[in-house]
Amino acid sequence: MRALLTSKVARRGLRPIAELIDQRIQRQIRRALADTAGEPLRQELRTLRNRQRPLELFFDGTGRGASRLPSAAAHLERTVTELTGVTGDRDGAERNVAQAFRLLIALEALGVGRIAGGTMNICGKLSAVPLLDPPNDEILEIGTLYGMFGTGLIRMMERAGRDPRLTIVDPLAGTQLQPGTSMTGDVTGTPVRGAAVRANLALAGAAGTATRIQQGFSADPEVRALVSDRSYGVIVVDGDHSAAGVAADLEWAERIVAPGGIVVLDDFGHPKWPGIKEAFEKHMATDTRLTFLGQVAHSGYLRAAETPAGTPAGTSGTD
Ligand SMILES: C[S@@+](CC[C@H](N)C(=O)[O-])C[C@H]1O[C@@H](n2cnc3c(N)ncnc32)[C@H](O)[C@@H]1O
Repeated sequence: MRALLTSKVARRGLRPIAELIDQRIQRQIRRALADTAGEPLRQELRTLRNRQRPLELFFDGTGRGASRLPSAAAHLERTVTELTGVTGDRDGAERNVAQAFRLLIALEALGVGRIAGGTMNICGKLSAVPLLDPPNDEILEIGTLYGMFGTGLIRMMERAGRDPRLTIVDPLAGTQLQPGTSMTGDVTGTPVRGAAVRANLALAGAAGTATRIQQGFSADPEVRALVSDRSYGVIVVDGDHSAAGVAADLEWAERIVAPGGIVVLDDFGHPKWPGIKEAFEKHMATDTRLTFLGQVAHSGYLRAAETPAGTPAGTSGTD
């Protein structure tokens, strides 16, 4: 019998069956190997995903609208390049953007409400203002929402060795007011009110709690009279985003910005707010003291002439 099975003829005849059996065994082995090697990997992936989610909560848009997770090249490097163009300080731009980013994450983690706008626009503003070396430490923010950006700006100015004194103008009306748009409850769930603004400013220590908060509209003559008691080294225009609103704020800023002072036009060139660039272009066609320095993300930066308001160029200063 053995001789029969091992004969050449029998071996040739049985070869297809043997090959079929071999294929089946190999398939079983591959499947078994895949199962034993793959399962630990799949398990590890599940564990990593579970661990990643809470970390993502520090950066994603849940509860604040905008994601705070910039990409290295498209966002961070571009912001540093734009900031270098406006300030001429590449090292300072790199340092400030990194510090501003950490500050933004910390403030939104600890504060009440949020800072409005995209991550790079916020980091750009927080970084640019101290780098532009304003002529004095008086800062006016028109439109504050939760006061959290002003809080961050105080910190960034202090980091540059400055002693910021902040004045805020905002209606603090419960929700954000924007003419022509219906703003319902904020994504953070927090009402826009003075208590929220003060809670955030307290995070910036003594300079934060010393902030002047003027409730009202920037075009209101009473508000203007109270706030126009000084010349500002920095004015952030971020209130009424309509063309008429921005035009009125620019006209006011023109009169109360200190010689050499900085005007920041927020949401400049933002497709959602075309009125801002429209008002800017009209304003720049007038006899203005302001010169356009450039744009970082969605903010435009202007500097006032060194001559005081109302003084024709060339008639001030010592000869
Ligand atoms: C875009 S938010 C400001 C965001 C804030 N600067 C930040 O960076 O987080 C605009 C704010 O301006 C306020 N606002 C609207 N019209 C205003 C006006 N005429 N004067 C002052 N504030 C105004 C809105 O109610 C809102 O609180």
